[in-house]
Amino acid sequence: MAQLPKHIGIIMDGNGRWAAQRALPRAEGHRQGVGALKRIVRECGRLGIKILTVYAFSSENWKRPRKEIEFLMGLLRFFAAKERNELHRENVRLTSIGDLSALPPIAIAELQKSFELTASNTGLTLQLALNYSGRNEICRAVQRMLSDFETGSLRREDVSEEKISSYLDTANQPEPDLIIRTSGEYRVSNFMIWQAAYAEYFFTNRLWPDFNERDLREALEAYAHRERRYGGLSSDDSLEVNSFSDSETNSSRLESAK
Ligand code: IPE
Ligand code: IPE
Ligand code: MG
Repeated sequence: MAQLPKHIGIIMDGNGRWAAQRALPRAEGHRQGVGALKRIVRECGRLGIKILTVYAFSSENWKRPRKEIEFLMGLLRFFAAKERNELHRENVRLTSIGDLSALPPIAIAELQKSFELTASNTGLTLQLALNYSGRNEICRAVQRMLSDFETGSLRREDVSEEKISSYLDTANQPEPDLIIRTSGEYRVSNFMIWQAAYAEYFFTNRLWPDFNERDLREALEAYAHRERRYGGLSSDDSLEVNSFSDSETNSSRLESAK
């Protein structure tokens, strides 16, 4: 496939609505959501995607009822423990972004085991965004920068976009090229707000538990037709730069436009 993204981000939304439509408890939507994740991980691996970052639990999701949070934490622990060997067999490397320290210790322990087991795998990197929000990530980065400033290992003049990126949870990773959000919501909900400065977005009405390989291909197809200009010009327009060469005419046009 032409122009494949290196790094895909997915805001996996709509589990609750999927369940509500079937008069099922929200928990069932989350459980089915794990099934969708497994399908998409396998497909991304097959396609040769390098990194898949999935928004699994936001820093703001702590606002949800205690019972739902407990269920999600249990599901996370279960996922880390049960899928570990399968992920390893598929050559997937499991990592995370976000502040893991606030998660239940047992979930952290299972995650760590999976991170260690899969650390040297060379296929897809499946990155779970857990207790993650872009603003929180930036705050933590600034705190670390200030510590380094105090010890003298970071100077004011060292601060650049690259330097800030190197303090984020995603240090050394390519930025997301494509960000998919399911469930018909048109917002980013604090996901990778620094890294996504030039990401392409794909929004779909599909609820996350229903999202499948075909939907992913549709998103990749749309991505392949996007022209990423990064503030520059498209290659066709660049051929026309000669129209700027008559500087006298241009400056007189600017004068008369005043
Ligand atoms: C996404 O589904 C999963 C998490 C945020 C953990 P939701 O639980 O947000 O589902 P909706 O948006 O209520 O349908
Ligand atoms: C975003 O979904 C977070 C995750 C998918 C984990 P939310 O359902 O929490 O987002 P809002 O509240 O609709 O913006
Ligand atoms: Mg939601």
